[in-house]
Amino acid sequence: MAYRVEDVLLSREHIALRVRELGEKVSEAYEGKNLVVVGILKGAVIFLSDLVRAVRSEVNVALDFMAVSSYGASTETTGAVKILKDLDTDIKGKHVLLVEDIIDTGLTLSYLLRILEERNPESLAACALLDKPERRQADVAVRFCGFSIPDEFVVGYGLDCGGRWRHLPDIHKVGTTD
Ligand code: IMP
Ligand code: MG
Repeated sequence: MAYRVEDVLLSREHIALRVRELGEKVSEAYEGKNLVVVGILKGAVIFLSDLVRAVRSEVNVALDFMAVSSYGASTETTGAVKILKDLDTDIKGKHVLLVEDIIDTGLTLSYLLRILEERNPESLAACALLDKPERRQADVAVRFCGFSIPDEFVVGYGLDCGGRWRHLPDIHKVGTTD
């Protein structure tokens, strides 16, 4: 079975508008504060790079990244989360915003929130471009969310299928050929 890119679910224009709105919300929430924006590699990098440029200069932004194990080459989760790269920053006493591409089962985010909370940040919140609420297994709070989408596998704008299609500017549905 092979995967193929199908229709556009969210266009680049639609994404850009929403990311600007999210940047404004983040700016309001953290105005005058020091904020460590933590991107989850690799899916969040494109979203994060647009998001932080939509955050006003009144927020003192630092960037850091974590890498966790993901689905590998298929589209099904194993539920296992392994840290492949940890933060460079000590987040104790800092405001931390975790940036994810998509919340699916919620297992990855709930695990990451739990381990980062143990490091005693001043505050800890999550921002995800996409949310698939139908698939949720772990109860996680996402303070800033771009779009809720139906239970469909999607690629583009950072999201991949087996490492492919992260570079597409729009977000597409994925289908299979047999
Ligand atoms: P969760 O732990 O099930 O919430 O999985 C979140 C991770 O699964 C995301 O960071 C993505 O890497 C991946 N993922 C979930 N759904 C999709 C999708 O539709 N397209 C691409 N990656 C996805
Ligand atoms: Mg990912």
